[in-house]
Amino acid sequence: MVCFTISQFFVLLLLLFAMTLHKGICGANTKLSCNGKDRSALLLFKHGVKDGSHKLSSWSNGEDCCAWKGVQCDNMTGRVTRLDLNQQYLEGEINLSLLQIEFLTYLDLSLNGFTGLTLPPILNQSLVTPSNNLSNLVYLDLSFNEDLHLDNLQWLSQLSSLKCLNLSEINLENETNWLQTMAMMHPSLLELRLASCHLVDMSPLVKFVNFTSLVTLDLSGNYFDSELPYWLFNISSDISHIDLSFNNLQGQVPKSLLNLRNLKSLRLVNNELIGPIPAWLGEHEHLQTLALSENLFNGSFPSSLGNLSSLIELAVSSNFLSGNVTSTIGQLFNLRALFIGGSLSGVLSVKHFSKLFNLESLVLNSAFSFDIDPQWIPPFQLHEISLRNTNLGPTFPQWIYTQRTLEVLDTSYSGLSSIDADKFWSFVAKIRVINLSFNAIRADLSNVTLNSENVILACNNFTGSLPRISTNVFFLNLANNSLSGPISPFLCHKLSRENTLGYLDVSYNFFTGVIPNCWENWRGLTFLYIDNNKLGGEIPPSIGLLDEIIEMDFHKNNLSGKFSLDLSNLKSLVFINLGENNFSGVVPKKMPESMQVMILRSNKFSGKPG
Ligand SMILES: *[C@@H]1O[C@H](CO)[C@@H](O)[C@H](O)[C@H]1NC(C)=O
Ligand SMILES: *[C@@H]1O[C@H](CO)[C@@H](O)[C@H](O)[C@H]1NC(C)=O
Ligand SMILES: *[C@@H]1O[C@H](CO)[C@@H](O)[C@H](O)[C@H]1NC(C)=O
Ligand SMILES: *[C@@H]1O[C@H](CO)[C@@H](O)[C@H](O)[C@H]1NC(C)=O
Ligand SMILES: *[C@@H]1O[C@H](CO)[C@@H](O)[C@H](O)[C@H]1NC(C)=O
Ligand SMILES: *[C@@H]1O[C@H](CO)[C@@H](O)[C@H](O)[C@H]1NC(C)=O
Ligand SMILES: *[C@@H]1O[C@H](CO)[C@@H](O)[C@H](O)[C@H]1NC(C)=O
Ligand SMILES: *[C@@H]1O[C@H](CO)[C@@H](O)[C@H](O)[C@H]1NC(C)=O
Ligand SMILES: *[C@@H]1O[C@H](CO)[C@@H](O)[C@H](O)[C@H]1NC(C)=O
Ligand SMILES: *[C@@H]1O[C@H](CO)[C@@H](O)[C@H](O)[C@H]1NC(C)=O
Ligand SMILES: *[C@@H]1O[C@H](CO)[C@@H](O)[C@H](O)[C@H]1NC(C)=O
Ligand SMILES: *[C@@H]1O[C@H](CO)[C@@H](O)[C@H](O)[C@H]1NC(C)=O
Repeated sequence: MVCFTISQFFVLLLLLFAMTLHKGICGANTKLSCNGKDRSALLLFKHGVKDGSHKLSSWSNGEDCCAWKGVQCDNMTGRVTRLDLNQQYLEGEINLSLLQIEFLTYLDLSLNGFTGLTLPPILNQSLVTPSNNLSNLVYLDLSFNEDLHLDNLQWLSQLSSLKCLNLSEINLENETNWLQTMAMMHPSLLELRLASCHLVDMSPLVKFVNFTSLVTLDLSGNYFDSELPYWLFNISSDISHIDLSFNNLQGQVPKSLLNLRNLKSLRLVNNELIGPIPAWLGEHEHLQTLALSENLFNGSFPSSLGNLSSLIELAVSSNFLSGNVTSTIGQLFNLRALFIGGSLSGVLSVKHFSKLFNLESLVLNSAFSFDIDPQWIPPFQLHEISLRNTNLGPTFPQWIYTQRTLEVLDTSYSGLSSIDADKFWSFVAKIRVINLSFNAIRADLSNVTLNSENVILACNNFTGSLPRISTNVFFLNLANNSLSGPISPFLCHKLSRENTLGYLDVSYNFFTGVIPNCWENWRGLTFLYIDNNKLGGEIPPSIGLLDEIIEMDFHKNNLSGKFSLDLSNLKSLVFINLGENNFSGVVPKKMPESMQVMILRSNKFSGKPG
């Protein structure tokens, strides 16, 4: 203290006062803040948890439990109200004696590795008496504990305050009464998520389920193989989100769906639904999401969908729809994502896009033609565009150059044969993923620098030598083109030292010269295909440095010499093809345990494979 001047002393006093005040307001004072009963309940819960990553190291007896990781208290009463331990690498047992914490309203243990769950005796009773106020829990999220299986959910019906329940990615295959059990839940339930729970039966025969307040129902990713059950269409007048995607649902979409007047989102992707996409869906004026892709719908694209002015996402691709697409979709000014494909055809004009100011994803994977003025300035700035399988060509359209925020560009299989090289390569350099494969584009790549993370230029008519790549390129497929010359300038270029390339396919071209000894630059490679070229010489020793390689293909070149590489160092190698070359000497014997396929045919090897 002697070292303080008076003014410093006052500052210190003020500071201390401020700190006490702060403690008082925030209730961080130990005596006030942590209720003893709550603390012991938390510690008993911790007892069952395997916490290998020491995420709960702050949970020790002496300390204020309101300051423990994930715990929140009411700042007036000091009682624990929330426990949020999602994604903390926790394993072991969930001891739901936690629910004896009287004022706990929010419990999130999702995205962990729990394998068991025990109930306090009061919840573990065969005789269920719903609607006693055993717990104040409003929100329960145990989702994404994939090794957890629950065989009986009856206890849930006693959590009478519950509004949100998420058990997605938990194994419920042996809770065969799940629907009846859920139906006994207090009708205050607003959100129910049971996605990917291994559920099998949607009880098509149940007539009525009393979820009178339900707003969100997510049953995606299960094994339901019935028709859409009757109860679904009388579930709750408030229901606004239904997701039944990735099941095996059959039959047609019944008109009783119109009962659900407040429906905002309907996802039925990847099922076996048949019949037409009903025109009456156009009467669902509140719909924002309509996702019907990957089903067996046939018939025409209903023009009534152009009336759904609230639509944000419309997905009908991968069905058997035929005919034209109405230009009224161009009026859907809220639309952000449009996915259309299958067997639709016809001509798309500027009118089909006229008011799509908010469009971000445009996926039109069907035999459409385009009647679009080259000077057209689209109303949108897209993040993703896929025109795969369309009749886009022969010239890469000018209007795509107006898109400055593109991350994905897929114009594969679209009849392109010419690009404006001066503009094109600098334009695509800013795009993360480009796929131009299966066209007939003829252009010289010698002076091009590629910069996208994923580049697929396979199956075209590209000429010249290998392009340069920036250090961003991770995936490069140039197979099946007319590229020629040596590959060493590409492989031994000094920029290649900090590259991230993991996948390189230059097969089926006309490369000549040798395979250079520069592989120390490419140690991240996992897949390497240089087969079907005219390369000569030996396999250089630095190939042995590719210690992450999984597949290598050298077949059908003019390679020769004794193959002396010690493959046993390539610990991940699964496949190697040396066939149709001129290798001699004894067959390679040392190989890693991972090896599954080694092809040596049509060479001059002697001896027997090891
Ligand atoms: C205390 O609780 C009130 C009401 O719930 C809240 O608005 C405030 O942010 C809380 N204060 C602290 C420090 O948590
Ligand atoms: C769960 O916690 C209770 C006390 O809250 C305790 O009596 C019981 O033994 C615990 N169960 C397990 C399996 O750890
Ligand atoms: C319920 O109690 C029975 C025995 O009474 C026990 O075998 C079972 O594991 C308990 N179930 C849960 C989920 O705690
Ligand atoms: C439980 O219900 C009783 C009677 O209905 C009521 O007095 C009590 O306050 C409730 N307890 C809680 C924690 O809600
Ligand atoms: C579980 O569902 C709730 C309510 O719908 C949601 O807010 C939460 O994000 C979901 N949990 C996970 C891990 O997705
Ligand atoms: C479900 O029950 C069957 C038959 O008793 C059993 O083989 C299977 O392991 C159980 N599944 C789970 C996730 O407990
Ligand atoms: C559904 O639940 C509500 C609220 O508990 C109740 O009033 C109503 O009678 C129930 N309806 C049926 C048919 O069970
Ligand atoms: C729908 O549910 C209500 C109860 O909420 C019931 O009165 C009505 O009969 C049901 N409608 C049909 C068509 O089953
Ligand atoms: C749709 O498929 C059904 C059953 O395969 C068939 O009967 C019907 O004619 C088809 N409709 C159209 C418009 O192709
Ligand atoms: C589809 O569009 C094409 C070209 O615009 C037109 O010739 C054809 O008649 C249209 N077909 C239908 C069924 O509207
Ligand atoms: C590549 O660039 C060099 C130097 O600028 C030039 O001489 C050559 O003609 C160019 N080749 C092609 C195919 O454009
Ligand atoms: C590639 O271009 C050449 C020259 O125009 C042409 O002869 C050849 O047929 C083209 N190959 C393919 C696959 O388009």
